[in-house]
Amino acid sequence: MSRWMLAGLAAIAIAGQANAQSPVERGGYLVNGILTCGNCHTPKGERGVELTAQMHAGGVIEWDTPTFKVKGSNITPDRDTGIGTWTDPQIKAAIQNGVRPNGTPLAPIMPFAFYKVFTPGDLDAVVAYLKSVPAARNQTQLPVYKAAMHVDAVPNADKPMSEADLRDPVKRGFYLVTIGHCMECHTPMVRGVRQLDTAYGKGGFRFTGPFGESFSRNITSHREKGIGAWTDDEIKRAITQGVRKDGSPLKPPMGYAWYARMTDADLGAIVAYLRTVPPLE
Ligand code: HEC
Ligand code: HEC
Repeated sequence: MSRWMLAGLAAIAIAGQANAQSPVERGGYLVNGILTCGNCHTPKGERGVELTAQMHAGGVIEWDTPTFKVKGSNITPDRDTGIGTWTDPQIKAAIQNGVRPNGTPLAPIMPFAFYKVFTPGDLDAVVAYLKSVPAARNQTQLPVYKAAMHVDAVPNADKPMSEADLRDPVKRGFYLVTIGHCMECHTPMVRGVRQLDTAYGKGGFRFTGPFGESFSRNITSHREKGIGAWTDDEIKRAITQGVRKDGSPLKPPMGYAWYARMTDADLGAIVAYLRTVPPLE
């Protein structure tokens, strides 16, 4: 190979590096987009808008169930009220296994079972980003655990995926839908157990909040009951703008504004995967 060719290759390699995202950038893209961590972990003001000065300093929604009563923790690097003293492996153990450094389990509202698919690189990126956000002091209410907590197993998602998997659009879509815990909301629950094996994506789960009530929808590929007959653009618009096929607005708590920050390629991968979800009525 000539000297000139080598120089040319080196220049391409450097340009490639300049375009590549740093771990903090990748983590920020995920956390503030598909992951919607702040949807549960950030105080909200009027009309449910997140208070940016308190980003990730603890959520306002209280989940009071027969087995636990919790609110989203302060996950900023504040050393007293956040996770500033936790090591990287401790933060990862909380995110993927649902345990705190002192060994206490987290309530499964924190969707840790869905985070087992994180590629090692993306998990590092999420941790790097969390450590880069401003520390915000905010003592959140202590959790109360009343009885043994049930954790749903997520089908086909019990181990990390690889970078190679993510190059296939359908697998990438499955990855994004899983870390976005879409199917946690879009699958009904029977006696505290999410029906992920038999009713994956069927919808019908009820939410209540300041907005009144809403029911998640069937997002399987069923042509009448699901979104099988929607165009790609209609599905993308529902996800990012909260607009139904007929143009009417969708209610909370789905994090439409967070999903709007996703790249079109990632949204396209989500659509490609949703089209493969077996139809259910
Ligand atoms: C659906 C709501 C929800 C989402 C989404 C969510 N969390 Fe949580 N998270 C919680 C709740 C609630 C707790 C506290 C559970 C408890 O006290 O048992 C928690 C606890 C944690 C903890 C433990 C902190 C501590 O001090 O105990 C960490 C770390 C954490 N979440 C990080 C994240 C990250 C990172 C994301 C995004 C990848 C995320 N969470 C997404 C609800 C959520
Ligand atoms: C926190 C719960 C929650 C999460 C997470 C969530 N959704 Fe939703 N979603 C809902 C609810 C509730 C509705 C219906 C709102 C209404 O009818 O006003 C909905 C509506 C939709 C619709 C419109 C369907 C229709 O027939 O109108 C689509 C498409 C959709 N969600 C896809 C997704 C995808 C893809 C993800 C993950 C990227 C996701 N959702 C994550 C709760 C959620």
